[in-house]
Amino acid sequence: MTENAKSTKDMTLVVTGATGRTGSRVARAAGAAGLTVRAASRATGFDWADRSTWADALRGADAAYLVHPADVGAPGTAEAVGELAGTAVGLGVRRLVLLSARGEDQALPTEEALRASGADWTVVRAAWFAQNFSEGPLVEELRRGELVFPAGEVEEPFVDVRDIAEVVVAAVTGGERYAGRTLSVTGPRLLTWGEAVAEIAAATGRPLTYRAVSARDYGEALPGLGVPAEEAAFLTELFGTLLDGRNASVEDGVRQALGREARDFSDFVREEAAAGIWKA
Ligand SMILES: NC(=O)c1ccc[n+]([C@@H]2O[C@H](COP(=O)([O-])OP(=O)(O)OC[C@H]3O[C@@H](n4cnc5c(N)ncnc54)[C@H](OP(=O)(O)O)[C@@H]3O)[C@@H](O)[C@H]2O)c1
Repeated sequence: MTENAKSTKDMTLVVTGATGRTGSRVARAAGAAGLTVRAASRATGFDWADRSTWADALRGADAAYLVHPADVGAPGTAEAVGELAGTAVGLGVRRLVLLSARGEDQALPTEEALRASGADWTVVRAAWFAQNFSEGPLVEELRRGELVFPAGEVEEPFVDVRDIAEVVVAAVTGGERYAGRTLSVTGPRLLTWGEAVAEIAAATGRPLTYRAVSARDYGEALPGLGVPAEEAAFLTELFGTLLDGRNASVEDGVRQALGREARDFSDFVREEAAAGIWKA
């Protein structure tokens, strides 16, 4: 019997980034589906930057969700993901699901490194997370009243990370169905960043605004906010390419994997506004 033929309740899934936006939801969805979840983050002794910690995190598991904490297309990510995937396959952890980003040319070497590892791989290419507006660096700006971002009037099908998580679990538990496949996962509707902020403003009753800046101006401000120069240079290039309109389309990865429509941005906004996430 191959790992993929195991029944769900017998599977152990290693979840990297288990304290983060997607990993925490993957852990929750996998637990709800009956898998045994092994959280892998620095608190549990797993460190992407320290290869000596990898084998203990992986040994004896059946599958792993791989999310690199730097951007999936950042310098060094392809090498790290390729080496970790090779370690996993060497230990018999063959079912690997990688979180990648839709339309990101810089991420293609990372996806290729996963494929080259010999794993039973699945790549989940996600749209921009709806939760970028509620968790992470952008939320503080929104609480202050203005979101500054280099997205112009570009449209994006923001995806709820809970949908990403459920797609990941479907891929892990779906046997051969998802091995060797790339799934593009988006929300059901296109919105500009300005429209997204307007929805948040309407739900909170606060006069929140969006101010578009160029990728270059945005990148030049990052070192002053504590972002290392190399990372700022990467993000400037990334935003300059990724936010050029290439991702202004809806795709049906959620429906393909889950047999239902993706969660709408307005549901996310209503829930987070009710929880008070954007209070001043
Ligand atoms: N944001 C988007 O819209 C978007 C869209 C598509 C793809 N992505 C991709 O999503 C990924 C980020 O995923 P996310 O947003 O779920 O993560 P996240 O919320 O940024 O959290 C990062 C996670 O990685 C862990 N971590 C940080 N440094 C670590 C290290 N050295 N070793 C081990 N674990 C470490 C953190 O845990 P501890 O700090 O507890 O160790 C945390 O669990 C990136 O690769 C990005 O390219 C993002």
